[in-house]
Amino acid sequence: MRAGSHGALRSAGGPGLAALAAGRLALGWGRRIAFAWVVVAGMAMAGDRRGAVATVHPIATHAGLEALLEGGNAVDAAVASALMLGVVDGHNSGLGGGCFFLVRMADGRTEALDGREMAPASATRDMFLKGGKADARLSQDGPLAVGVPGEMAVLSAVSAKYGRLPMARLIERCAKVAERGFKVGDSYRGRTAGTLKEIGWASASDPAFAEFRRIWQMPTGQAWVLKQPELAGFYRRLAEGGAEEFYRGHFPAEVEHQMRRTGGLVRASDFAAYEMRSRQPLVTTYRGYEIIGFPPPSSGGVHVGEILNILERFDLRAMGEDSVDFVHVVTEAMKLAFADRAHWLGDPDFARVPRGLISREYARELAARIDPLHAGLVSGAGRPLDADSDVFERERHRHTTHFSTADGEGNWVACTATVNTSFGSKVVVPGTGLVLNNQMDDFVAQPGVPNFFGLVGADANAVEARKRPLSSMSPTLMLKDGRPVLSVGAAGGPTIISQTLLAIVRIADFGHGPADALAGRRFHHQWRPDVVKLERAWGKSMAESLRERGHVVEWVESLGATQAVGRRADGRFEAAADPRVQGLGATR
Ligand code: DON
Repeated sequence: MRAGSHGALRSAGGPGLAALAAGRLALGWGRRIAFAWVVVAGMAMAGDRRGAVATVHPIATHAGLEALLEGGNAVDAAVASALMLGVVDGHNSGLGGGCFFLVRMADGRTEALDGREMAPASATRDMFLKGGKADARLSQDGPLAVGVPGEMAVLSAVSAKYGRLPMARLIERCAKVAERGFKVGDSYRGRTAGTLKEIGWASASDPAFAEFRRIWQMPTGQAWVLKQPELAGFYRRLAEGGAEEFYRGHFPAEVEHQMRRTGGLVRASDFAAYEMRSRQPLVTTYRGYEIIGFPPPSSGGVHVGEILNILERFDLRAMGEDSVDFVHVVTEAMKLAFADRAHWLGDPDFARVPRGLISREYARELAARIDPLHAGLVSGAGRPLDADSDVFERERHRHTTHFSTADGEGNWVACTATVNTSFGSKVVVPGTGLVLNNQMDDFVAQPGVPNFFGLVGADANAVEARKRPLSSMSPTLMLKDGRPVLSVGAAGGPTIISQTLLAIVRIADFGHGPADALAGRRFHHQWRPDVVKLERAWGKSMAESLRERGHVVEWVESLGATQAVGRRADGRFEAAADPRVQGLGATR
């Protein structure tokens, strides 16, 4: 048994490293772990060559490792982790939400599976307006906030197409954890308390939130073991009935019942009409690396690519990653890209998203607008070449948490999944324990009106029936000489783009490994509001220097949660969970 050197695990409800090292890790399904993993809380050391998993929760990481141990591949590990996250980290992601799943198999097949929620058929552009004004409560809490979930469609599709293990077996393990319960950690507890407070405006008997209140009632002052028997039962139904049960079985009727009782729009017919999309991954290059990103309706792939294209025109290494020059230039590039996001980006099935946003010519033009010493005025979106003709294709009918997996055969996964904000809409389908997302808030409720994350947008991202809301989720793979070397992505709304970008830059420009890249201090600018968010660890002098250049600085304690798996030249994996959260990266 080897273990990394970052000390004892103090994970959110997770096991201790000591327990793990002694091979007595109880994973909820009562098995002893008697094999060697290299694990470290928050980060992970470079380990072995057989596989790697990084997620925000130790139990979910172990579910992925267990799948690898049983002969599963990186896809099985990702499916196992995703399903487990829905049990132990349900405030972030779960089957009531959506995901973007980016996979590259050892034989070179690469696919972007889009499990983004879809607006119900009766959704309308003005559905979140009250008296002519956007009402955030409608799009953030309660039944109108819910889009048709896509995660189950993706997990069952990838499991069938690329996986080796029966998905039913992976689901059953999660059901056991849901049934027996898991120890809730501080972060989960805090999110629950915040959510209960947030829905405090609704009466205790409001049927929209009654289930949430019942299941997530918090014990005062003692250890909290959360048991989710209804969720266990629901998972078992899915082990039996699969995606068919989820989209066309009894479940959609139960959702419809809850929606009709509470004034929501989602119907069983919306579930039957849900379409997972297989999309062409978006490929750009940066300093000799191939960057494989997720295409729209993710804005992540486009803008990580766009910003990297701009940054390639600057010598970041010479500036130094702790320098104000570096933070300034990257901030300016972020501003330009986010201004484009607000104008151009939306579901490519509905909006014309120009491919020119990731062209080198356009990057050259944008880079030339960056004043190395002064914050520039970015009044709006740019105009990429071929903005009218060369757009991301409408798909023909071919068809927020990030986790990364890889296996020794060369299969890699980057997946970001979310129910949007904590516990999504807070609407639980009675009898299932399943929290439904509030992804409808990622649409633009009204031009110029910011959403939960302060993002503004335009027509391209207006609400429409059966449309997918724009996302910032940015699951990304990075290749060197045709071989994957990194799987990375993040949680945290629009900061996902900045986090993913910074991880790539710290690896490509500054030569860090994944764990160090994730530990690096972060900053974020999203054009509107016109402020650069700076992690406090940067210290006052950086803030002062940025202010001198004309930036408005806002402090944040900690920015986001990135997970990554990397592979070194010697073939060893390194799995890294963000040190800001209590996740786990592990290799075998
Ligand atoms: O898709 C998006 O961009 C957002 N719904 C992601 C939400 C998120 O990252 C929440 N995490 N803090």
